[in-house]
Amino acid sequence: MGTTSPEILVELDRSRPRGLRAQIEEALRAAVRSGRLAPGTRLPSSRALAGDLGVTRGVVVDAYEQLAAEGYVTTVQGSGTTVNDVGDADGAASRTARRRAPGRRPGGPPPPADQPAAVTLTTDFRTGLPDLGLFPRAAWARATKAALATMPDADLGYHTGAGLPRLRAALASYLGRVRGVSCTPDQVVVCNGFGHGFSLVVRALVDRGHTEVAVEVPGYDDPRDQIRWAGARVRAIPVDGEGLRVADLAATRVRAVVVTPAHQAPTGVVLAPDRRTDHVDWARAVDGIVVEDDYDAEYRYDRHPVGALQGVAPDRVVYSGTLSKSLAPGLRLGWLVAPPDLVDEILTGRKATDHMTTSIVQATFAEFLEAGDLDRHLRRTRRAYRERRDVLMDALAERLPEVHSEGVSAGLQAFVTLPDGWDAADVVARAARHGVGVYQPGDDLMDPAHRARSLLLGFGTLRPEQIRDGIRRLAEAVRE
Ligand SMILES: Cc1ncc(COP(=O)(O)O)c(C=O)c1O
Repeated sequence: MGTTSPEILVELDRSRPRGLRAQIEEALRAAVRSGRLAPGTRLPSSRALAGDLGVTRGVVVDAYEQLAAEGYVTTVQGSGTTVNDVGDADGAASRTARRRAPGRRPGGPPPPADQPAAVTLTTDFRTGLPDLGLFPRAAWARATKAALATMPDADLGYHTGAGLPRLRAALASYLGRVRGVSCTPDQVVVCNGFGHGFSLVVRALVDRGHTEVAVEVPGYDDPRDQIRWAGARVRAIPVDGEGLRVADLAATRVRAVVVTPAHQAPTGVVLAPDRRTDHVDWARAVDGIVVEDDYDAEYRYDRHPVGALQGVAPDRVVYSGTLSKSLAPGLRLGWLVAPPDLVDEILTGRKATDHMTTSIVQATFAEFLEAGDLDRHLRRTRRAYRERRDVLMDALAERLPEVHSEGVSAGLQAFVTLPDGWDAADVVARAARHGVGVYQPGDDLMDPAHRARSLLLGFGTLRPEQIRDGIRRLAEAVRE
């Protein structure tokens, strides 16, 4: 084909009242949706198509721009316009749209009925994922090779549900070093991410007689499902600019709570020093348990990291960490650090369910950690994410100065509050029409008025130029 412009069938009906530009758009949209134009197909240049159809070039340029805004095609200066993957048929296209519905935190609950179905998004500020393109494949492959070469045969058999001794020891030392966690290796339980670890903890708490577990609102919704699944009730405790309102917690009879003290999910605020003290005092006074979800502590950019709450009250706190933000959710690897008496109860549940975490991945991660590869990876990715966050904040300040960002300089997402008179669902819908994905928090316990003014912008998976362009288009959508 060389550099010749490919040909394409577009039938125009010049007797129809509908404009030529609309007809070209309609024809190409239908061809993409039906699969007649497969993903990756290069479209003719605007000049060539205009020549073929006998219309002015501007008509085709406008049509291509509209299709690009809707996510059907991508135009790259100098290399032309290609078809995007939006599904192989109308059914598949709408499945794609459902997967990416605006307003829905990916992986979270379905969007409320007042939010429209989405077009494919060309810039997606989705939350919940690190940049999987930054996964350190070479270092992980080296660690896997080394682990397989050195792990004893016995480690390939059944072993304790708490994890390989080598990894438990490496984690105890690493967590002490970077998070101020105070523990012996015997208190470490290797698990398959936070969700899995929390399911084991909540089950042990129910076995101990807890009938209710408190959660932060707004907050991460997954633990709520685990609490209900274990047969307990969920008690909502509000979060404000200083984190969980511990006084509200103390006013209940609940004795267990799951919190994100270092970087509240999703608001991004840090639990204030007085509240930390109150929180520990509360746990001691009621013989309570705090589950500390330290999901993204690796990513703090302003050089003011706070240590884990566990370090202050190791007898009262179950600490939980995960590789889902720092490396990849697909690894399904995380850890708990529990008070010694709770470890046995957690392991009872472990034995009754999945026995243990895959030993090859455990040995690989131990190797990765001991060789300093995690530190190296974090230094590199912290720089990248810090830049992305800075770019996002600068772009918001320039294009949407009315919008206020909450939270400290950390993590992979920003929580923003819209000014009076703006409606988040409307902003989400407008943005989607411009091919930009932004999200309302998926928390159904959240105060509706607060939710109506809140937006989440994940920046972890976007490059700086995509962030700038996305915010430019978001601003255009809002001002339209
Ligand atoms: C607040 C919070 N905790 C924990 C996790 C990670 O969960 P897991 O380790 O089960 O992948 C996430 C992921 O989105 C999260 O948002």
